[in-house]
Amino acid sequence: MTEATVTELAKPKAPTLPDAQKITYVKHWTDRLFSFRVTRPASLRFRSGEFVMIGLMGDNGRPLLRAYSIASPSWDEELEFYSIKVQDGPLTSRLQHLEVGDELIIRPKPVGTLVHDALLPGKRIWFFATGTGFAPFASLLRDPQTYEDYDEVIITHTCREVGELTYGAELIDSIRKDEMLVELIGAENLAKLRYYPTTTREESTKMGRITDLMRSGEVFKDLGIDPINQDNDRAMVCGNLAFNLEIKAILEEFGLREGANSDPKEYVVEKAFVD
Ligand code: A2P
Repeated sequence: MTEATVTELAKPKAPTLPDAQKITYVKHWTDRLFSFRVTRPASLRFRSGEFVMIGLMGDNGRPLLRAYSIASPSWDEELEFYSIKVQDGPLTSRLQHLEVGDELIIRPKPVGTLVHDALLPGKRIWFFATGTGFAPFASLLRDPQTYEDYDEVIITHTCREVGELTYGAELIDSIRKDEMLVELIGAENLAKLRYYPTTTREESTKMGRITDLMRSGEVFKDLGIDPINQDNDRAMVCGNLAFNLEIKAILEEFGLREGANSDPKEYVVEKAFVD
């Protein structure tokens, strides 16, 4: 053994993060919103719509983790996340400075209720999102199963301002135009997709909270369809707490019941991450 090798062996190893993956792409959409892509752990299998715990090493030497919906579909080689930036948020105040090549902790144990298995078969699926609640639907909308299981796929997205719709709008556009996605999902299947964005605090082509537009019946009129009913309609909901509670009440009024992985019914709900 040479002297150099002995020195090498004696040197303390640089600490490596547990479950660390590498950032491959970062995009800032507004001063409050950004998305990023990261290498996928070889062991990670998930159902489109699920979330995982992700984070960074805290100052106390312990991982600081939060639940994040995976925005990429289950067939994607990488993982995508869509996040808010909270200036004094323990994790997002740091996550927003991520750059390509940085490390991110991902615990490879996906869970969640926004999965097809938690719903009974139906004809029409609604995805109701506010803000970053769009993330799990960015995954589900790129999953061919969504279109195979339903005749119609409707995604509504309500944000305060027009700029906050861009991530979702570009994603819908890419689903319709990206050659690879069109081939994977099928042009006939993609014809089932309806996109219904609304804003509440800035002028846009459709204004108002989706909850109000449902109560007044305006959304059904705009889309030229019958109101929601228990036989045909299934729904997944992801947004802020007040929105989730209000949509739940509305869906129940239409006769839909909340399901779970172990007990599939007509709708499922999950809270969008807001910290
Ligand atoms: P509004 O501007 O009228 O509060 P946030 O950025 O606060 O998470 O909100 C995202 C979007 O969700 C906003 O357009 C907001 O509308 C809307 N929203 C908030 N609370 C509710 C609710 N209880 N029902 C329906 N929409 C809601």
